[in-house]
Amino acid sequence: MANNRLQYGLVSSFSKKSKLEKIEWIAQNCFTNPIQAKSILESYWNTDDKLQRLHDEFIENAGTNFYLPMAVAPNFVINGQILVLPMVTEESSVVAASANAAKFWSTRGGFHSEIIGTEKTGQVHFMFKGSHQSLATFFNEIKPKLLRQTNSITKNMRKRGGGIVDIELINSTEKINDYYQLHVRFETADAMGANFINSCLEQIAKTLRYQAARYSKFSENEKKLEVVMSILSNYVPESRVKAWVNCPIVDLGVDGEILAKKFIQSVNIAHHNTYRAVTHNKGIMNGIDALATATGNDFRAIEAGIHAYAAADGQYRGLSKAGVKDDTFWFELEIPLAVGTVGGLTKLHPMVKWSHELLQNPNAEELMQIIAVSGLAQNFAALRSLVTTGIQKGHMKMHLLNILNQLGTTDSEKEAMVEYFRTNVVSFNAVEQALTAWRKQ
Ligand code: MEV
Repeated sequence: MANNRLQYGLVSSFSKKSKLEKIEWIAQNCFTNPIQAKSILESYWNTDDKLQRLHDEFIENAGTNFYLPMAVAPNFVINGQILVLPMVTEESSVVAASANAAKFWSTRGGFHSEIIGTEKTGQVHFMFKGSHQSLATFFNEIKPKLLRQTNSITKNMRKRGGGIVDIELINSTEKINDYYQLHVRFETADAMGANFINSCLEQIAKTLRYQAARYSKFSENEKKLEVVMSILSNYVPESRVKAWVNCPIVDLGVDGEILAKKFIQSVNIAHHNTYRAVTHNKGIMNGIDALATATGNDFRAIEAGIHAYAAADGQYRGLSKAGVKDDTFWFELEIPLAVGTVGGLTKLHPMVKWSHELLQNPNAEELMQIIAVSGLAQNFAALRSLVTTGIQKGHMKMHLLNILNQLGTTDSEKEAMVEYFRTNVVSFNAVEQALTAWRKQ
């Protein structure tokens, strides 16, 4: 270990300490300059105590807030409606890319999007030593009870048009000895539904165990059916949304034909080459995660589900498709998505609430469509740059301010450098040199 590393011991009952005690402990034990460490944390506290408490209570052991910039990308025309998208991201070029793509397509028919399905699933995983046939008979007999016992949990959701769609028994004993699942399908209306689904599944598991233990046709061994776990799946291929754009090739610009050709080649490469597919999809996720975060949705769940879908046929592939038909260029993205516009942080986090209002308070299906469009727009902007100017030109231009901040520039130096790099290629070295030269003037 490096000499300047501090050695500190384990801490007991940390979560029981007050916020100030936690900060004190961290500052004293983990930092060489505790006063500075504390003051950095404090400088990010909100001056409104009530608002700060709200954020502290989102998670355990909260000491401060962690800023990410929130921006907007205007001029998105989605199914004929003009929208300004809220985006939370730390990556310099993402919002500019979105805004460019939005503007480009706004005069070419806009973005289109449609819902393919909204069904989610969860599973009760269990072990059963005995006859498959007896288990199937048992399951068919108790299925109405499994459903009935969830009635109090599903009541409100049913009023909103959601609930349990069906429960299926799946025999997976060929993969793992004695392993079965109850595969449960749900509709969750405008909620992402994680808590609802998990509550239903835990009740279903309880009923399953209880009924098995009392089922007279089971042997003593069979009665010992053992539930391993009950949890929703973030793989949601039945909750899918498609977004697309199209326009006559001539409308793509003077080099429309070349652009369309290279664009389609780049999409095909991502389809066949996994190294490229991962980066291609990362670009799509730039647009999706920024929207998911701004609207208070769980971007880890979304990421996991989308990447699994990208590998659904056994090879990880690019998620978008492009082609030309009858001199019309088309480009589309189809992804699984489970998002909510009620529940979770939606009414709690003021910026999340603000984002929903900015989007004109969409319902879950509309939000799915907006998020898919955001992914498609990012992908379009990235591929268009990649097959024309290359990505670094735009990327470094956007990164210029980060470099200037890193070099500790004053406002007037910044202004001069931004002006200088309007016509010069940005790199860290180039900025350093230009700044030194400017300072010597
Ligand atoms: C950078 O965040 C995303 C890109 O690499 C995506 C792509 O290569 O398609 C530009």
